[in-house]
Amino acid sequence: MGKGRLKIALITGGSKGIGKALGTGLAKVGYQVILTGRHEKDLKKTVQEIVSLGYQKPIYYILDITNSGLITQTIDAIAAQFGRIDVLINNAGIHRKGTLDLSEKDFRELLETNITGQFLVAQAVVPLMKRQRSGYIFNVVSRSATVGFPGTGGYCASKWGLRGLSESLYRELTPIGIKVTALCPAWVDTDMANRAGSPLAPEDRIQTQDLFHTIEWLLNLSDGACVKEVVITNPLSL
Ligand SMILES: NC(=O)c1ccc[n+]([C@@H]2O[C@H](COP(=O)([O-])OP(=O)(O)OC[C@H]3O[C@@H](n4cnc5c(N)ncnc54)[C@H](OP(=O)(O)O)[C@@H]3O)[C@@H](O)[C@H]2O)c1
Repeated sequence: MGKGRLKIALITGGSKGIGKALGTGLAKVGYQVILTGRHEKDLKKTVQEIVSLGYQKPIYYILDITNSGLITQTIDAIAAQFGRIDVLINNAGIHRKGTLDLSEKDFRELLETNITGQFLVAQAVVPLMKRQRSGYIFNVVSRSATVGFPGTGGYCASKWGLRGLSESLYRELTPIGIKVTALCPAWVDTDMANRAGSPLAPEDRIQTQDLFHTIEWLLNLSDGACVKEVVITNPLSL
């Protein structure tokens, strides 16, 4: 990536949890962060929190990643304003408990958000990265993409699918200068883990800061070093 100019990072699901922590960290190290999510109130609150820390002020777009028209419109607006996207954090996702007891609606929603949504965002962003001949895509997958856990088969199916997409993109795009890494954490201390009924106490979970340290490390690797995926587990649930 070029040195000395403002770097642009787009984060889906940037209003809360992992996306918020990655946005805060990237703003701290000088990126122009662009946060997206479905709820303006949460996006505004996160922008204010980042500004109050004295970091580069993020901008935000209201964006549901299941809406392909809105994705195209948003990426076009970003391209018109900044001309590039250096880092995409393809993070927005949902969790539902259940395997065969899931309703058809919930199962379809999992696939629609966790695979199709992330596919659509990558599809809209990659042409810009190809024109730049550079970029880094982090697909926020899950440890549930490496183990078929009982009682959470729908979520696992969606994340295994996303991990497959991420690996294909890794093999297609890395040779042309665009890095791709699947982040596969186990329980992370966010609202999602609380809602999903994580058996781990908050202090025993991965901290959102750990995810920022991970991408910071990856972003600082030389062009000759690429990492397909990073799996991070919890000491109490390996
Ligand atoms: N927490 C964990 O233990 C854990 C572990 C492994 C992987 N992950 C993955 O990490 C990612 C982030 O999870 P988190 O724990 O940070 O969850 P979170 O606290 O629930 O935050 C989810 C974020 O995604 C956004 N979002 C959800 N659906 C969206 C949609 N259709 N379009 C746009 N934005 C959407 C939410 O904002 P709005 O609701 O305003 O849209 C929010 O900003 C997810 O992909 C999740 O599967 C989480």
